[in-house]
Amino acid sequence: MKGIILAGGLGTRLYPLTHATNKHLLPVYNRPMIFYPVKTLVSAGVTEILIVTSGPHAGHFLRVLKNGKELGVAHLEYAYQEKPDGGIADALLLAEDFADKGPITVILGDNTTDANIASIVKKFKSGAMIFLKKISERGLLKRFGVAVFDENNPQKIKKIEEKPKNPQSQYVATGLYIYDKFVFDHIRACRPSNRGEIEITDVNNLYLKKGALNWEELKGFWSDAGTVETLYKANAFWAGKGGI
Ligand code: DAU
Repeated sequence: MKGIILAGGLGTRLYPLTHATNKHLLPVYNRPMIFYPVKTLVSAGVTEILIVTSGPHAGHFLRVLKNGKELGVAHLEYAYQEKPDGGIADALLLAEDFADKGPITVILGDNTTDANIASIVKKFKSGAMIFLKKISERGLLKRFGVAVFDENNPQKIKKIEEKPKNPQSQYVATGLYIYDKFVFDHIRACRPSNRGEIEITDVNNLYLKKGALNWEELKGFWSDAGTVETLYKANAFWAGKGGI
């Protein structure tokens, strides 16, 4: 299994911090943010990693991560997304050659979690696997992809809605996904959303339509760190834990 970390985008929600460097290199307690998704992959046994980045500070990654060896990465590659806000799925398309027709574990570069997904990565055979997290603060739900469950079967996802006005559940799609080799065909079948991005939620809904989307509840702490509030929240959590 190979791993992909999506670390493009412009980080506009974190201006003025992100005028100085890429969002994923800002500190989360005592480490740059990107170290956390790298650690999640390496702990799951995924040590061949591609980082997709973009924007004016893309070169900073090399100075911070070098070849990744200090973090247990066996092989590290970089790709550059021309359109920095093309969308998560647009960034993932750049990983097609790297994936080489094999399955991939994908994590968003601004997601931090202490969950260990090693056993799920090991068991993965085909289709797509997404990880949901129950969020108690209802006001936050609108910022995420939110699952809609079947009325007759609370385990069955009917669809995932991206940033819904009226969220139908408290289960949000975290930025952690496992895909088989068909993910790139599905991305190519998607059109830009109203906000002009190729949405990973549309890709997941395509898998769902084909009956090939599975889900697990992510155990432990999970948060993105892409807003001032969540960056602070992630810092507080990891400081309390003493870092990674
Ligand atoms: O954090 C989980 C959420 O992430 C999910 O619940 C949503 O379904 C998913 O769409 C995503 O929502 P966000 O609005 O929080 O995504 P954001 O635009 O902040 O992008 C998250 C990361 O993806 C970012 O840190 C870098 C990467 N990215 C994003 C875009 C738009 C790229 O690499 N390229 C891009 O063009």
